[in-house]
Amino acid sequence: MKKEWIHPNTVTGDAATEGRYLKREYINESFWREVRKGNHILLVAPRRVGKTSIMKDLACNCPEGFAGIYENIEGVSCKIDFYQRLFELLLQSIHRSKLKQAKELVGRWTNKFRIIEISKSGIKIEAQKIDYEKEIRNLIPELKEAKVHVIIFLDEFAEIIYKLKKNGCQEDAISILHMLREMRSDDDFKHFTIVYAGSVGLEFVIRNIDRPKLINDLHPIKLGVLSDAEASMLISQLTDGASIQLSDDIRVYLKQKISYLLPYYLQLMIEAIDDIAFETKTAVVNEKMIDLAFLNVLKEKKNFEDWLLRLKEYHSVNFSFINELLQHAAHRDHITVQEIYSKAEKAGHSEDYMDFIEELVHDGYLVEIENHIYCFISPLLRQYWLQKYPIYHA
Ligand SMILES: Nc1ncnc2c1ncn2[C@@H]1O[C@H](COP(=O)(O)OP(=O)(O)O)[C@@H](O)[C@H]1O
Ligand SMILES: [Mg+2]
Repeated sequence: MKKEWIHPNTVTGDAATEGRYLKREYINESFWREVRKGNHILLVAPRRVGKTSIMKDLACNCPEGFAGIYENIEGVSCKIDFYQRLFELLLQSIHRSKLKQAKELVGRWTNKFRIIEISKSGIKIEAQKIDYEKEIRNLIPELKEAKVHVIIFLDEFAEIIYKLKKNGCQEDAISILHMLREMRSDDDFKHFTIVYAGSVGLEFVIRNIDRPKLINDLHPIKLGVLSDAEASMLISQLTDGASIQLSDDIRVYLKQKISYLLPYYLQLMIEAIDDIAFETKTAVVNEKMIDLAFLNVLKEKKNFEDWLLRLKEYHSVNFSFINELLQHAAHRDHITVQEIYSKAEKAGHSEDYMDFIEELVHDGYLVEIENHIYCFISPLLRQYWLQKYPIYHA
C-alpha cells in the first residue's frame, strides 16, 4: 500500500494559532511588564508581520487578574459606532472573568440596560437609546472594585482613524483620540488598557490630522522578524510529522534564501517546497527544490501586493518618489544617500527625504547595509519589485 503524504501544518494568510503559532515569550513578557506599569500599547508593524497572531495569543493567555479581548474594528464608520463597540467589548471581557466581584458588576449593568445576552459574538440590548461614551466613563471606574483589569486589543485602529479622516469625519477621529487620551491620564481608569494596532503608522496618520500629542504617551512595541534559532523552531514546528524531510544543511540554506525571517515567508516557502516535493514524490528536500519554491512563491503576486498597496494608499502624493527609491534599490542592488538626495531634489523633497527612508527602514522594506547605503532587506520583496517594474531608467 502507498504511504499517504502528510502535508506540513501551514495555513498561510490567517493569523496563526496553536500548533502553527511560534510563541516568543520575551515579547509577551515585555508586553505584560509595560501593562503593569500602566502603559497603553502601540503595536504597529506592516501587514503580515504577525500582529493579529500575537494579539490573539496575548488576549487568550492573560495573567490572573486580567481579562483580555481581541477585536478587529475595521467596520467602524463613526464615533458612535466606535463607542458602542468599546462599551460592548468592555462588558464582554468583564463577563469572562470568573471572580465574584466581576460577575456582580456584569449583573448590575445587565439589569441597568436590560441586556438580554452576552456572548462571544457580542451583546444584545433591548432597544433603547444609550449614550455609549458616557456609559464607558461610568463603567470603567467600577473595574477597580470588581478586581479585574480589562485589556482590549483593537486591531486595525490606525486604519479606522485614517478612514474617518479620509471620509470627511476628521472631527470624529479627533474626538475619539481625545476621549482615549483623557482616560489614559485619569487615575479612575487605571484598570483599563487598550492596545492600539494597525498596519499603517499611527504616528503618520495622526501627523496628518495635526494632533501628534494625542498619542505620544503610548508605549510602542516593535514586532521584529524571527532570529535564526526561532526560524529553526518554526520550521520544525510546521514540518513536524510531515512527509518532507529537511536536513540541517538544507534548513540553513532555506534560512539564507529567505534571509529576512518573517514567519509569513517561512510558511510560504514551506508550502511551496511541499507542493514540489509532493508532485515529484521527493520527500528529501534539496537546494534545487528550494530555489524553485522561491520562484513559485513569487509567482503568486498576492503574497506581496500588500507591501506595494499600502505605500500607494497611504502615501498617495509621495508614492512616486518613494517608489522611485525602491525601484532604484531593486535594480541597482542598493541606493546611496547621494542618489536619494538627487531624486529628492527633483521631487521637491530635499527637506524631508530622510523621513521617507526612515519609514522604509522601519517598515521592513530597506536596510542600511553600510553607512548611508540602503538595500532591500528581503530578497523576496526585492524580486517582487523587479517583477512589478522590470524596466528602470535612472
Ligand atoms: N508567531 C508566529 N508563528 C507562526 N506564524 C506566524 C506568526 N506570526 C505570524 N505568522 C503567520 O504570518 C502571517 C501573518 O500573520 P498575521 O498575524 O495575520 O499578521 P498581521 O496581523 O501583522 O498582518 C500568517 O500567515 C500567520 O500565520
Ligand atoms: Mg492582522
